[in-house]
Amino acid sequence: MPYERGVGMRVLVTGGAGFIGSNLVDRLLEDGHEVTVVDDLSSGDRANLARAEDSPRFTLQVMDIRDPALAELAADWRPEVVCHLAAQISVRKSVADPVHDARLNVEGTASVLTAAQRGGTRKVVFASSVAVYGRPAVIPVPGDAATDPRSPYAASKLSGETYLATFKALYGIDYTTLVLSNVYGPRQSPDGEAGVVAIFTDGLLNGTPTVVYGEGAQTRDYVFVEDVVDGFVRACGEAGGGGRFNLGTGVETTDRQLHALVAEAAGAPDRPGTAPARLGDLPAMAVDPAPAFEALGWRPRTELATGLKATVEWARARSATR
Ligand SMILES: NC(=O)c1ccc[n+]([C@@H]2O[C@H](COP(=O)([O-])OP(=O)(O)OC[C@H]3O[C@@H](n4cnc5c(N)ncnc54)[C@H](O)[C@@H]3O)[C@@H](O)[C@H]2O)c1
Repeated sequence: MPYERGVGMRVLVTGGAGFIGSNLVDRLLEDGHEVTVVDDLSSGDRANLARAEDSPRFTLQVMDIRDPALAELAADWRPEVVCHLAAQISVRKSVADPVHDARLNVEGTASVLTAAQRGGTRKVVFASSVAVYGRPAVIPVPGDAATDPRSPYAASKLSGETYLATFKALYGIDYTTLVLSNVYGPRQSPDGEAGVVAIFTDGLLNGTPTVVYGEGAQTRDYVFVEDVVDGFVRACGEAGGGGRFNLGTGVETTDRQLHALVAEAAGAPDRPGTAPARLGDLPAMAVDPAPAFEALGWRPRTELATGLKATVEWARARSATR
């Protein structure tokens, strides 16, 4: 069965108060489904769920994914699909405290899968990261490239991928892993290290200094959150069962190019400060999304300039209401 609108599927979204999760929740509700979010609000923001909370088909459970009560909740509510996005998302924090990272991302994923099993869930859709590819030899990274986790975060995400296959073997729970490149868009927090678009947007709209590291030549693959959400909902159907797919554009954008594009969208001068290159930063990254075209019918549809304009408009509207 492909993903369908209006069929009232029950979907449990972990991390649903966060950046990507809350955008996914809005789309699932728009498509007529019932959604329960499990989020401990550690980095998520309840304000991201303001629209969702108007819907009678929406419930928020403020809970840690490691709480054994999650399995009880799933046993009662019986979600057909679980989209698992709750995580410790910082590579640097994972290096500073690998045990904390493993508790959230490994123990947390085992807990979510246990809940899926108790709830009779058909499928789990998991948010992994391009960090699992380490320092790739080929860019854009093919979907079947070898993994090479070089941070505890990458190791814990890869472990999550492995647990999905284990739970499929044990209990027949289907899964799809989505390997996300650099996601950007409305609701991304400028406080984290990952959100360079959010950081540039915040600085350029508020007139505070922005910085590019080294020559500004480092590249990343920026994919718009609405496109990523479209990948998640497609994976909620049967398509892509047992598979892992890169969700990116395959296009490399340098930090310097990105700064110029955000400055243009914000109507601000394109004059970033510079700072020495940071030790350990990956020089280049982009992923080949072609297998997701085939298996999920997914495409990254949003041009970077268009997505950046929407992101800047959202940030401007938000700062006007604060
Ligand atoms: N943003 C990106 O560019 C990107 C790239 C690759 C992968 N990802 C993955 O996508 C997912 C979502 O990322 P995001 O950017 O929306 O991050 P985010 O921090 O905005 O969202 C994560 C959410 O999980 C919640 N959470 C964290 N620990 C929890 C716990 N123990 N119990 C319950 N809830 C908990 C947080 O409160 C937050 O709402 C993560 O798994 C992340 O690793 C994101």
